[in-house]
Amino acid sequence: MKRLIPVLREDGVDSDLIMVIRTILAASKELAFRISQGALSDVLGSTLDENIQGETQKKLDVIANQLFKELLQDERDVKAIASEEEDDIVAVNESGKYIVAFDPLDGSSNVDINGQIGTIFTIFNGKDEIPASDWRQFAQTGNEQICAGYVLYGPSTLLVMSTGIATRVYTLDLTHGGFLLTIPELKVPEQTAEFSINMANQHDWLEQTKHYINDLLTCNDKRYNMRWNAAMVGDIHRVLTRGGVFLYPQDIRPGYQQGKLRLLYEAFPMALLMRDAGGSESTGEGSILRQPLLELHQRIPVVMGSESEVVQYQSLASLNACSGVENVGTAMAMTIP
Ligand code: AHG
Ligand code: MN
Ligand code: MN
Repeated sequence: MKRLIPVLREDGVDSDLIMVIRTILAASKELAFRISQGALSDVLGSTLDENIQGETQKKLDVIANQLFKELLQDERDVKAIASEEEDDIVAVNESGKYIVAFDPLDGSSNVDINGQIGTIFTIFNGKDEIPASDWRQFAQTGNEQICAGYVLYGPSTLLVMSTGIATRVYTLDLTHGGFLLTIPELKVPEQTAEFSINMANQHDWLEQTKHYINDLLTCNDKRYNMRWNAAMVGDIHRVLTRGGVFLYPQDIRPGYQQGKLRLLYEAFPMALLMRDAGGSESTGEGSILRQPLLELHQRIPVVMGSESEVVQYQSLASLNACSGVENVGTAMAMTIP
């Protein structure tokens, strides 16, 4: 089985970028170890703090953020970093070539139940003309990502990553401490009968989502199954592996009118991995990857997975107009009958 670094070299990845990827993975290996120790390494439970999104921080959110931040701050080629758990970007090295954004711990609510959790990351080229301390370093579209990936801390620790050629899966070999290539090219199956959405929000969905899910549930051709992990890494990993569709759409709850997931370090990297695995990705109206980042912690509605499902969902977008919603950028409060 091939090791990660030779695969990256064969793919023609810049050696400086390889160093940055190594640093991210060094942090994730340390995190994988601490997670596997659970209560023995004192990583469970909550802090008394909230992050910029107003969410209570778990101890592990803070520990994970510190790990990634500290290791990346020592990296010569990193210009700036952005994290879900940091209000502002962190300037690192003015002459660094790359900028890195991450969700250090995705699926925090699963921490205390020993469920699936992960780390999501993305790397862009830094902009020479913009100072390292200026958040507009990150004001790029998803198509400009040069590397995206996630580490899934499950029964085994997996790295799913693309540098633009293919979405590859690596498994952490605990005996030697390195990631080994276990699925060279992940391909999202085209046929599917599985969907992933938090059904508890159905009364607050827009017409597009209500109609789409209702059509799946009443479909005569096949019987759809439903899965919801409450950790995007776990749900997207399942969809990448055996097909299906994942949705976190906007809805009328206060704070959810652009959905819940963050564009920079959740939607962008997952959309790139989906694209490079032959799947589709959308805001419900158009490609996530073509969206420009307008603010650091911007949220975005997400639908991704097997192409036929994403196309079908998108074809229902005009129904939202009946509810008074213009588009994802201007979705306002509305009433649903
Ligand atoms: P995070 O733990 O980084 O805040 O992300 C949690 C996200 C995502 O992983 C998941 O799909 C979604 O929140 C679940 O949201 P609900 O609790 O609303 O279902
Ligand atoms: Mn997350
Ligand atoms: Mn998180």
